[in-house]
Amino acid sequence: MSRRCRRWVAGVFALALCTGADAKDFKLGLIVPGSHAWSQAAERMGEALEKRSDGEHTVSIFPSGQLGDESQMMRQLQTGALDMAFLTVAEMSNRVTDFGALYAPYLADNVAEADTLLHADTAQGLLEQLPRKAGVVGIGYGIATMRLMLTTYGIDDVGDIDGHKMRITPFDPIKDFYNILGAASTPMPLTDVYDAMANGQVDGVDADIELVWKLNLYDHADTLLYSNHMMFPMVGVVSGRVWANLGEADRKLVREAMSASLDSLFDQYVEVTEEMRRKVEGTDVEIMEVGPEFFGEKLDVWEQRWRERTPVLEELRADAERLL
Ligand code: BEZ
Repeated sequence: MSRRCRRWVAGVFALALCTGADAKDFKLGLIVPGSHAWSQAAERMGEALEKRSDGEHTVSIFPSGQLGDESQMMRQLQTGALDMAFLTVAEMSNRVTDFGALYAPYLADNVAEADTLLHADTAQGLLEQLPRKAGVVGIGYGIATMRLMLTTYGIDDVGDIDGHKMRITPFDPIKDFYNILGAASTPMPLTDVYDAMANGQVDGVDADIELVWKLNLYDHADTLLYSNHMMFPMVGVVSGRVWANLGEADRKLVREAMSASLDSLFDQYVEVTEEMRRKVEGTDVEIMEVGPEFFGEKLDVWEQRWRERTPVLEELRADAERLL
């Protein structure tokens, strides 16, 4: 083989090696089951990334807490053992208190309002704290449907929550909310909720219409308090270590694919929330529609407590006043 030819073969071989070294199968973890809209959004992201990288990058999705609960996934993200995750803001607020303000009762009344607030400056600014305080890069927010209460017993007024064991997602803003209502708040991951309702370990759960429907939580329920009392944001994150090893072009691809899939959740929920509600209306559960007046001055107690914890709450209320 001529010297020129040998150089050409070496060049092609080096290029192939280079391309191979950059190719990546990103591992993405979620706590929700495969049937949940967040898992479907993760799949859309994987398809987009594969297409836009000409097949070089793929995403393997691990739903249902297969890689552990959210705090375990967070540790894996910090070491780089996990590449990406769609995590509840609840988990973020356990590490960065300011995120707790996003759970202010009746900050947003519905998913469309949540969309506006989460894309505004204050909420976007919170993401900037994540690399330093949590070791992850926050690409953007997704959303679940608004929070409701599902109980195994009948409810007439707010006093009926007092003294009952209510399942909550394990994080402070919601724990405070139920404690202020007089409930015995019982932190529990999503995966345990159905059995806990079935065996009487709890008298009710803080959940949303998608969980009520897709996890069959209505099976052991009496009343669905359709309160829409909080929004429930999610954050799409990439491990800080993994991000540091990505080139600019790959960062752009990942950012664009993940942002588009997170954004799609807002439109999807605006479309399908009513449909899920109609399905639950077809079960034996009694649906009781209530607003902030149902909770009365209990809401002021929560507001006062969290204004003392973070200045972000006042900024978010100002955004809401201005934008909604
Ligand atoms: C929950 O803990 O209620 C929850 C977790 C993930 C997505 C939606 C809800």
